[in-house]
Amino acid sequence: SKPRIILGIESSCDDSCASVVTSDKRILSSIVTRQDHSHTHGIHPLVAALNHHSNIPTTIASALAHANLTHTDIDAVAVTQGPGMNSSLGVGLTAAKTLAALLDKPIIYVHHMQAHALTPLLTEQIPPRFPFLTLLVSGGHTLLVLARGVSEFQILATTTDDSIGDAFDKVARDLAIPWAHAPGAALESFCAQSSDAAQPDALSFPVPQKGKTSFSYSGLKSAVTRHVQHQGGPSAMTDEQRRQVAQAFQAAACAQLEDKLAMALRPTTATTGAASRRVPPRIDMGVDPLSIKSVVCSGGVAANAFLRTRLRTALDGIDRRDVQLSFPPLALCTDNAAMIAFAGHLLWHQRTNDYTRNSRAKWSVE
Ligand code: KG4
Ligand code: ZN
Repeated sequence: SKPRIILGIESSCDDSCASVVTSDKRILSSIVTRQDHSHTHGIHPLVAALNHHSNIPTTIASALAHANLTHTDIDAVAVTQGPGMNSSLGVGLTAAKTLAALLDKPIIYVHHMQAHALTPLLTEQIPPRFPFLTLLVSGGHTLLVLARGVSEFQILATTTDDSIGDAFDKVARDLAIPWAHAPGAALESFCAQSSDAAQPDALSFPVPQKGKTSFSYSGLKSAVTRHVQHQGGPSAMTDEQRRQVAQAFQAAACAQLEDKLAMALRPTTATTGAASRRVPPRIDMGVDPLSIKSVVCSGGVAANAFLRTRLRTALDGIDRRDVQLSFPPLALCTDNAAMIAFAGHLLWHQRTNDYTRNSRAKWSVE
């Protein structure tokens, strides 16, 4: 039979995204229209919404054009219902509902975070089997999620304050590291430019939340800020001193992720004998850690090569060489509509002709 074709629409944050994906996992198009918020401090919801209002229609049109399709080829529309900013979500939702109603096709309302977590089923050569772990590290999230099924998710750890991406951005600014595309990427390359004078362990920042089931990045951010101020600011520091701070930050930021991964996946050891032996803290997933064979790390920070190595080392260190660790292509682990269209295929049974549903700004993934 002919593969089904779904148009996906995503507008939860500032990127306007549209994509066409077939039920046999072909991404016929995936268009992302970005907004430039570099001149303001963060994203203003009304500005973001206004930009979606201008960008969503043409983004959808070019997704169809790039797929060489017309509206009559579409079997259903999948759209992000939440979580996100109501004013942004509404633009994509109205577009999706209007198209679906006009074409008399079903609509599938998708949870943005579930779509992120399901992406490896689309991108991985050997798709992970449930249950698998997703580590989502971006400017918006720092999450460890257990995916048990297409609509069954459990948050194992989230951040109590800032995201890891935020921390990379703030520290890059504190250290006055010039950046072109992403501050975090610039910080990573700055760390890698080592010289003979480098003393790798001369400086270290504490790793908070050790043994806890949450992440925290605000303490690390201010520890770096204080350290830099104490040195008289970035201009009073040598390149080598700034590099030491950057490296110490990067190591501490990644250590939290290593810690949580180990807490979830460390094999449960027999507790016979030495009763005094300290049992390492764990994250109880409700399933045997040994049944998890796959960890997928995605989001903007997943581009970091240092992090990639450290996570592999952490898994090997707890004797989990059997766990496959993968990093999907960046274009599909940062915000995009291909993951929404693909989730629409997986959630085909949830399709509806109810074109009245509104956005859900706060919507738990569980
Ligand atoms: O997923 P993403 O593109 O956007 C959203 O958060 O919505 O993530 C962006 C974040 C930024 O904080 C950026 O500085 C960070 O990912 N980032 C990196 C690297 N590349 C991007 N952080 C560390 N190392 C990198 N190589
Ligand atoms: Zn996202």
